Amino acid sequence: MPTINTTAQTRNPRSLGVNASSTLRWWQKAIIYQVYPRSFQDSTGDGIGDLQGIIQRLDYLKGIHVDTLWLSPINPSPMHDFGYDVADYTGIEPIFGTVDDFTQLLDGAHARDMKVLLDLVPNHTSDEHAWFAQSRANRTNPKRNWYIWSEPAADGGPPNNWLSYFGGPAWTLDTTTGQYYLHQFDTHQPELNYRNPAVLEAMLGEMRVWLERGIDGFRVDVIWLMIKDAALRDEPPNPDWSGGPPIFSLYHIHTADQPEVHTLIRAMRALLDEYTSEGRERILVGEIYLPNARLMKYYGSDPLVRGVGDECHLPFNFQLIGAPWDAQSVRTMVDAYEAALPVWGWPNWVLGNHDKRRIATRLGKDQARVATMLLLTLRGTPTWYYGDEIGMTDVRIPPELVRDPQAVNQPEVADEVGRDPQRTPMHWDDSPNAGFCPPDVTPWLPVAADYAQNSVLSQESDPRSPLWFFRLLTDLRQKSPALLGSSYRSMESGASDVFAFLREADSQRLLIVLNFGTQPHHLDLSAIAPAGSILLDTGVARQGDLHFLNSLPLDPNEGLIISLI
Ligand code: NOJ
Repeated sequence: MPTINTTAQTRNPRSLGVNASSTLRWWQKAIIYQVYPRSFQDSTGDGIGDLQGIIQRLDYLKGIHVDTLWLSPINPSPMHDFGYDVADYTGIEPIFGTVDDFTQLLDGAHARDMKVLLDLVPNHTSDEHAWFAQSRANRTNPKRNWYIWSEPAADGGPPNNWLSYFGGPAWTLDTTTGQYYLHQFDTHQPELNYRNPAVLEAMLGEMRVWLERGIDGFRVDVIWLMIKDAALRDEPPNPDWSGGPPIFSLYHIHTADQPEVHTLIRAMRALLDEYTSEGRERILVGEIYLPNARLMKYYGSDPLVRGVGDECHLPFNFQLIGAPWDAQSVRTMVDAYEAALPVWGWPNWVLGNHDKRRIATRLGKDQARVATMLLLTLRGTPTWYYGDEIGMTDVRIPPELVRDPQAVNQPEVADEVGRDPQRTPMHWDDSPNAGFCPPDVTPWLPVAADYAQNSVLSQESDPRSPLWFFRLLTDLRQKSPALLGSSYRSMESGASDVFAFLREADSQRLLIVLNFGTQPHHLDLSAIAPAGSILLDTGVARQGDLHFLNSLPLDPNEGLIISLI
């Protein structure tokens, strides 16, 4: 029989210098929930979600115990990249509402003891932003140097070999002035030049407006790409590339993770700290796709021994999204991340977002539950993507309805890179259009065919549903010192497809046991405790049962949270 032992690595909260669970900061205890505003709730009947729609659903969000909302961009935008092309950083896109609507949303969230993070997109603007209109007007305009312009190569082509994530070269020729401008995304998303200090000053000014309006922080888009090689040198080819999206045919050594980016991030963080008072921290969450050693630099340093760094509070950790889904790989990945964290770094975990396949599609519905339990029991702040709590899956979009520029511009890899499937409307009920928009309106993306069975309405009273399970799990997490706290200890489970770890705080000892496989097991856990009671099961049958731990049955695809005696 597989035996669990306790010899594995330990992170001791005191040795970390991290606070006990009772004094954790709000963002360390938070569950971040990403709302993709276009797809959450339409209140105006135009088939696109909006701020009043989110306001209508605040009680739902409170009821599932998520306490921090991150809204994908809501600024005015021509919507070439659905808001990630910002035309005015301080306004609100009329499709979504007004500044008054936003204030109402923020007040409504705060009244429910919830926080609101806004998406900030500082790397690039829309080509309709006033700054770019001036910059492209002529070569001597004072804002010319706010963007990255370059002479054509000798043959008249792009200045170097850099590529766009959305296909083709990362450069577009501006025929009026005869120079190319840089864009690593859509051609309508010119990149700002942060080697010009005026640009950072201007962006900090835009951030200040939102901090004055009372938001609780920013999720910063592609923060690790914000500054590029000054000499615009070619990037080397990636010898491992064997087809797929061309962006991966190069090593991004000159367009990403440049050392100077940390100066920018420290300036943003200093601004947030200026608006921070006791118990009212404003946080910086950075979108960063990097391996551990380089990711950790984005926590910054902690010269003042404040217990937090001077860059991102939470540099997003996306490793659960990309990890091979087996117990040993995931355990190795979690342990390596834990070991790599600086002492002042608070961990965080992300399971899904608007750029990646949904978890129920990636893992299937059974392992999606295991993944949910893992996300919400690991040490650190979890981030959740709207609709995953009801098991939404990716929706196949007919070619004529594809909207995402990443797919439209790259038809040869559209199925691989297209992000519309994971952005479809939320399923609220069983009425036509799932309660997202009126029945006679065409939603901006199609609603999934299975919406009636997988809706909030159908699941909120069904104890076997994903929503019911999610609500129990989030409730347990928010009340549990051990799950919120600072200790994590991974275990040898004895079974190669079982990942087990201990979470301990304030005299609470919880063992999490997750079966990633399709074989049942009987585990011998008696080395750590004689018995324990099951607090939560990914299934439904066994909650509350007391088990002697010398022979604990574990079903295929089952996860348990066990309170040790
Ligand atoms: C990352 C965002 O998550 C993605 O949706 C967007 O297309 C790019 N950045 C460009 O802003």
